[in-house]
Amino acid sequence: MSALLLMLLSSALCWASCHTHNENIESLMDNVLVLRVPYGQDSREYIPLTCGESHQNQSITWKKNGLELDPPLLGNQVRVLVEEMDGGNYTCHLNPDGKYLNHTMIMVQLDPDNRTVILEESSPKEGHIHCSAPNYKGTFHCTWKRTESRRNAAVLLVKAERHLETLPCNLDSDGSGVHCHNTTCPFKEEQHRISLTVYIRSYFRLEVYEKVFFLRDIVRPAKLSNLRISDGKVFSWNYPDTWETPCTYFGLQFQVKVVNNEHSCKSEEAIMESITEDNEYKVNVKSKRFIFCVRAQDKYTNGPWSLWSLWSQCIVNKHHVTC
Ligand SMILES: *[C@@H]1O[C@H](CO)[C@@H](O)[C@H](O)[C@H]1NC(C)=O
Ligand SMILES: *[C@@H]1O[C@H](CO)[C@@H](O)[C@H](O)[C@H]1NC(C)=O
Ligand SMILES: *[C@@H]1O[C@H](CO)[C@@H](O)[C@H](O)[C@H]1NC(C)=O
Ligand SMILES: *[C@@H]1O[C@H](CO)[C@@H](O)[C@H](O)[C@H]1NC(C)=O
Ligand SMILES: *[C@@H]1O[C@H](CO)[C@@H](O)[C@H](O)[C@H]1NC(C)=O
Repeated sequence: MSALLLMLLSSALCWASCHTHNENIESLMDNVLVLRVPYGQDSREYIPLTCGESHQNQSITWKKNGLELDPPLLGNQVRVLVEEMDGGNYTCHLNPDGKYLNHTMIMVQLDPDNRTVILEESSPKEGHIHCSAPNYKGTFHCTWKRTESRRNAAVLLVKAERHLETLPCNLDSDGSGVHCHNTTCPFKEEQHRISLTVYIRSYFRLEVYEKVFFLRDIVRPAKLSNLRISDGKVFSWNYPDTWETPCTYFGLQFQVKVVNNEHSCKSEEAIMESITEDNEYKVNVKSKRFIFCVRAQDKYTNGPWSLWSLWSQCIVNKHHVTC
């Protein structure tokens, strides 16, 4: 008897909670629901949709991806069956003229979401998202690359946060990166990591990518400026234009390298190679034809070097030098 009562009670409770709340369904943003589907299992989920309170007393019909449903789906509040990964864009329309009223996109995300197909991994260490900043002022840029077969994938949402604070970001116009701003005070030690979350969809499949980092780990000095030669042997250069001043606080160290003039600065076969904190270097090699290369790194954090493509170089061909 009491067991029956308990059953009735729990089913009544379930009717109240289960039908309004399903833990696999999450509202990501206006008009977007995300359904989490367990990986490798057949899944069938009924999802409640509503056209909106302002259309409460109207006669309403629904379409999926622009097509009428068979049998027709009628009413302000309806339930739709989502099988496997079959999400869709459900629009509600006024009967009988068919005027568009509202819509809900149902996105499907695999759970666990670790067999991703939309973005390419740039390297096992770096993951799918690459971030860099030219200094500590707080602006950073992150990029990603869609795989060959998912070029149409579209970014739904990007969130950047640091310790409960939301950072403003702008999506790049080609949808493969974001610029974010205003993240840290440069004269205080950075205590909290930045977390960047990218929600990207291909049709109605949603994947979520996250990258967590300190700004100091992604600060990568830009190309050095004004590389020049004097006395035929002494090369000197300036800090990048985008680097912080005063230099004593945000000091750089430099990697200098001399390569054969048939090679490029990227070459592993250097004639000589050295690290220096000075912004000049006296080259002492026999060859009269060589390339002098230099790039920078934050000397306190030992963060990333300037990119390979951002070596500054002078090509020395006997007495002819081009920097
Ligand atoms: C449109 O539908 C969404 C649910 O996707 C709902 O939150 C919103 O209130 C509706 N808008 C109107 C104007 O009824
Ligand atoms: C819908 O109809 C009910 C009963 O007639 C009324 O109380 C309510 O205000 C109406 N709602 C809207 C949005 O028109
Ligand atoms: C879903 O339908 C609405 C209304 O027609 C449209 O604005 C929106 O772009 C559609 N979304 C997708 C992903 O097709
Ligand atoms: C994904 O996560 C599941 C459960 O955490 C794990 O068993 C599986 O090996 C992971 N797959 C990959 C490709 O990482
Ligand atoms: C950073 O954000 C705060 C609060 O949103 C704002 O008051 C401040 O002006 C911003 N600073 C910069 C450098 O953008």
